Amino acid sequence: MAQVGILGLGIYLPSKKFTNFDLEKMVDTSDEWIRSRTGIVERRIAAPHEKTSDLAYKAAAEALKKAKIPPEKIDLIIVGTVSPDSNFPSVACKVQKAIGAKNATAFDVSAACSGYLYALITAKQYIQTGLSRYALVIAADRFTSLIDWKDRDTCVLFGDGAGACVLGKVKSGGILADFLQAFGDQGDLMQVIAEEGRSPFNPGKTSYTKLPFVRMQGQELFKVAVNSMADAVEKVLKKAKIKKEDVDCIVPHQANDRIITAIAKKLNIPKDKIFVNIDKYGNMSAASIAVALYEAVKFKKIKKGDKVVLVAFGAGLVSAANVIKW
Ligand code: UT7
Repeated sequence: MAQVGILGLGIYLPSKKFTNFDLEKMVDTSDEWIRSRTGIVERRIAAPHEKTSDLAYKAAAEALKKAKIPPEKIDLIIVGTVSPDSNFPSVACKVQKAIGAKNATAFDVSAACSGYLYALITAKQYIQTGLSRYALVIAADRFTSLIDWKDRDTCVLFGDGAGACVLGKVKSGGILADFLQAFGDQGDLMQVIAEEGRSPFNPGKTSYTKLPFVRMQGQELFKVAVNSMADAVEKVLKKAKIKKEDVDCIVPHQANDRIITAIAKKLNIPKDKIFVNIDKYGNMSAASIAVALYEAVKFKKIKKGDKVVLVAFGAGLVSAANVIKW
């Protein structure tokens, strides 16, 4: 089977920084609590006019430029998002229009914080089977639009952002192995609930009774996050026939720095091999790994020839991992 790899990366981060001190003025919290329990110092907040598709488009434009692939050559666009501008059209179709990728098919995938890896692994199959040649994979979430700003359990954790890559065939290296898993039976641990609205088939309901805000059971999620991400790393390395000691860099989902420390301990891998940027951006849902990968490359934590593991965990519950030879 053809080897598929990343040809170019891009990101977009909204300019507005929102610090823990700003949050102290809104809810009963403190910089000390947020920093020590999560590692987050600040996060980015999209401007009122910036929709998820705008974030996605800007990250995509950079990835295309870096890959030196013109938009007409892109024949597949997949966006990992759980905060689309609207139920439809998809964010992917909006990006297709914005970049002028007139020969592409386009759709979104819903895998929350695992959205980038679900999209990446799906796009890889399209290229390997010959259905697509160049794919644009985007992870974009305006996650703060799902936040109840009175709920301190959640509002301190998240931020907005987007990351993207262009995938295509490579002569050597590229994506060596993938692993995907879902635990639908534990989906209640993190959800956005919107009750059914007006309908002649549901006469009791005249309007939405609950607003669609994220609710989560943090402590339970924490345990599943550590166990499932550590397990995903073990399994994907086994598939790639690579030893833990030979991994150069792990880029995990950035939900909590304590989760990352616990994974390092469980895997017996030095923490300095794991890339962390949660302090600057918080949890950006699907975009977290995409932005972390971009920065790990930019700051030379990942160099040509390195063996890199991406590992994700999110609402669903869903986890995913892959191994890339850079
Ligand atoms: O990306 C998708 C997956 N997401 C995750 O995997 C998130 C996993 N969970 C976590 O990262 C952590 O569980 C949280 C960061 C969400 C919470 O940290 P924790 O150490 O588990 O705190 P906790 O929920 O056990 O709460 C400890 C205390 C409680 O007070 P009492 O009962 O001990 O008096 C909370 O009410 O901290 C309180 N608390 C806060 N205090 C100040 C909860 N949120 C806050 C807050 N500021 N924002």
